[in-house]
Amino acid sequence: MKHLVAPSLLAADFLHLKEDIEMVNESSADWLHMDIMDGVFVPNISFGFPILEVVNAVSKKPMDVHLMIVEPQKFVKEIAATGAYMMNVHYEACTHLHRVIGAIKDAGMKAAVTLNPHTPVLLLEDIIQDLDMVLLMSVNPGFGGQKFIEHSVEKTAALKKMITDRELKTLIEVDGGINLETGKRLLKAGADVLVAGNAVFKAKDPKQMIDELKKL
Ligand code: DX5
Ligand code: ZN
Repeated sequence: MKHLVAPSLLAADFLHLKEDIEMVNESSADWLHMDIMDGVFVPNISFGFPILEVVNAVSKKPMDVHLMIVEPQKFVKEIAATGAYMMNVHYEACTHLHRVIGAIKDAGMKAAVTLNPHTPVLLLEDIIQDLDMVLLMSVNPGFGGQKFIEHSVEKTAALKKMITDRELKTLIEVDGGINLETGKRLLKAGADVLVAGNAVFKAKDPKQMIDELKKL
């Protein structure tokens, strides 16, 4: 499968969100990555349901919603109602992960589990078969524009091995500090989806940057 690119709207110009979403619409991007932060799970607050709803109304790309919040199981219905395609919950935020994954799928969305940089992929051994995607954080979640954690490349390769050994189709998405250089190495290690915030929205020509990430 050719890899996918998901620009992260967190790095967009919030005063001109519509223009930035239209740029993504016209680009070769596959998904639109949406970062929800609650100020508890991560030391930052971003945006919530009303923004997801209006963005989805304008976006032609499926929304990949990354919930950096405690108790994400409380909001499965609300996220589904915004029109989200993929719902990512953090492993570290779910005591009953298997139940949450079931609820996400029952609500009609694809289900993904996100791992913080320190959380080992081997903890997914008994849930990987139920997941549409695993999102590996290659920075500590909470902020855009951070430095890529090098170990993420090895981690991607280890997760890829777990997936291929089991003959599964689970996708691997990586998020944080991704640019043309780190993106290339992650794809070589087995990544399927690259999230990019600053690399896209702070580029001189964001649409061209998306093309370049697609062509890696
Ligand atoms: C970080 C978010 C990322 C962030 C990526 O907590 O999950 O999606 O927007 O931004 P860059 O690509 O700038 O690291
Ligand atoms: Zn994210």
